[in-house]
Amino acid sequence: MAYSDKVIDHYENPRNVGGFDKGDADVGTGMVGAPACGDVMKLQIKVNPATGLIEDARFKTYGCGSAIASSSLVTEWVKGKTLDQALEIKNTNIAEELALPPVKIHCSILAEDAIKAAVSDYKAKHGDVAAQAGSTQ
Ligand code: FES
Ligand code: FES
Repeated sequence: MAYSDKVIDHYENPRNVGGFDKGDADVGTGMVGAPACGDVMKLQIKVNPATGLIEDARFKTYGCGSAIASSSLVTEWVKGKTLDQALEIKNTNIAEELALPPVKIHCSILAEDAIKAAVSDYKAKHGDVAAQAGSTQ
């Protein structure tokens, strides 16, 4: 199976690899695993407390090229967004942008789950009880 140029680009030049301090009040951390293959993705957002906008994002992905490309893409997409806008990112948007084949769709689902988990973690830190209840999966 051939990877698309965009997957290869993000795989070879991943954006925003790394991490933030999990304990930082402005940081939300999402850690998710794919049951299908055992790959793991950690995605973190950093929120500007003054504006409520996501000002930065980082990821670490132990997984396939599509999972790395999906998480790299998502860290780019969330910058400048509100938390609610970040939650609107769908795996189908990611899969479409990267032209993922059907067997690699779960890699984009991992990225959607990771951003949702990061937003939930941030909200839970800031006393959003509903988010707290929904954050464990
Ligand atoms: Fe091996 Fe994803 S299944 S890296
Ligand atoms: Fe499992 Fe890509 S995340 S193969």
